[in-house]
Amino acid sequence: MAWFLSSDLIAVRAANFAATISISGIFAFVYVVARPAYRTANLPLPTSLLRALRFLSWASLALALLTSFAWSIGISRALGGAVGVVLLKTQFGHVMLMRVGMILCVATGIGGLGRRSALGYFYVPLTGALIAAAAWQGHAGADIGWGGAIHLAADISHLLAAGIWLGGLLPLALFLVTALHGDGGGVLPARVGVSRFSMLGLVCISTLFLSGLINTWFLSGTLPALVGTPYGWLLLAKLAIFCAILGFAALNRYRLMPRILLDSDTAFVGRGMVRNTLIEAALGLLVIAIVGVLGTLVPGLHQEPIWPFAERFTLDSVQADPSLRYDAIGSSLSALVGLFVFGFALYRGRVFLAVIGAILVFGFGWHAVDLVLVPATPNSYAVSPQPFTAVAIANGHALYLQNCVSCHGPDGHGDGPLAARSPIPVADLTAHLFMHTEGDLYSFVTDGIDGGVMPSFAATISDGDRWDLIAFLEARADASQSGLVLDWDAPQSFADRVSVLAPRSAMEHRH
Ligand code: HEC
Repeated sequence: MAWFLSSDLIAVRAANFAATISISGIFAFVYVVARPAYRTANLPLPTSLLRALRFLSWASLALALLTSFAWSIGISRALGGAVGVVLLKTQFGHVMLMRVGMILCVATGIGGLGRRSALGYFYVPLTGALIAAAAWQGHAGADIGWGGAIHLAADISHLLAAGIWLGGLLPLALFLVTALHGDGGGVLPARVGVSRFSMLGLVCISTLFLSGLINTWFLSGTLPALVGTPYGWLLLAKLAIFCAILGFAALNRYRLMPRILLDSDTAFVGRGMVRNTLIEAALGLLVIAIVGVLGTLVPGLHQEPIWPFAERFTLDSVQADPSLRYDAIGSSLSALVGLFVFGFALYRGRVFLAVIGAILVFGFGWHAVDLVLVPATPNSYAVSPQPFTAVAIANGHALYLQNCVSCHGPDGHGDGPLAARSPIPVADLTAHLFMHTEGDLYSFVTDGIDGGVMPSFAATISDGDRWDLIAFLEARADASQSGLVLDWDAPQSFADRVSVLAPRSAMEHRH
């Protein structure tokens, strides 16, 4: 999968997506929106519209063909093989050849575009297959088993919906311009066309959202991966742009379309709709560019996330302490009652009651949130890259003796010779160590705590040794909680205990 990492393919991939999306969008638009709209108005499809759409089809087809070759060459360079070998011997190559075949087939349909509706039964599915086949060239094509099948299905639906909707935007703009400003028969076909397109859009948008959710789950997996890796950030940017497109689409559908019926407004409203549609199409291109970059990045699931916030959510402390648990449940319920009071007061127009409701909601609600918020570090969700072994633990112990006893004491109780001089009580490393994640412990040792009260060891202890230190701290905290006394200097004496010693961290290490 090394070629996912090379970056020179981004533009080619994105252009290939854009071109095939445009092709499938044009055919779907003509046969599902434009033809029926003009039939309703008892008019033929305007030749100027068909001419423009044919031109757009040829341009998209040429770009699709060109980028297919460039993409194949790029991949074979990245793999270090001949283009012919890549095309004939890899799944990527087979899919590529199939898609080029489809592109050539589509070319036979451009001349007759929009002539007979029966042609649509062949060319609309064909252009759909052209875009759907790209799913086998992405991450989903590499998965296996049931999960792989679901991921692949989600990817195919995502591509199809994107093709029909995003690819239909430019044709829609051309359609509106011809209908409202050109020789295209005026308001009636425009109105039918726009309402048909928004129905289609609604189906596509729901599909995009659902399949996107499934894809996100497969590729990004967790909240830390979503907010803490470049892959996740791009995904969020894509989502934000998608929402902006929805905004413009909604503006067209709910604000402008109803006004198009008022004849006096038609030209003005039509211009607004065309402008919004073009903005949508431009934002759509931006989304496609992001998709091009995403395909070349390592998905969030396979990267150590950098947690960007000062706090994180955890149920650990609430679960560990029954009184905190009742506190959390009680204040959540009180906040809920407050919400009810607030809603009732708004409904009845009672200001005083609304204020009381708001105070209940925010007061108790914030308290409940506060109970599950704990301080976080950038590495909160990092997991040790090293195996959890007796040798690592013994190495960690040696490092501990050199660097940490002076403050934390030989047994980690916070009673070393320097502890008395510390402005902040030195932590007992056997007490509540597991309240912190492994990644947090790593951050403490790497960056120090409280502006140097505990010093940073980034410069003096290597990265791997720091993780060994953490392995030792976890092992010792676990041993001391289960009352085990072990000789940390002699790895062979506790080697058989390692698997039960720190079940939590050992489990983290194994996945
Ligand atoms: C100069 C004294 C000093 C030295 C040396 C020192 N620490 Fe600390 N350490 C502290 C103090 C003080 C705290 C408590 C900070 C706080 O509570 O804000 C602390 C806290 C910690 C904590 C957080 C524990 C918790 O449960 O909150 C860890 C983990 C830790 N130290 C590990 C180490 C390790 C590993 C070393 C050796 C590489 C080390 N420390 C060396 C002073 C020191």
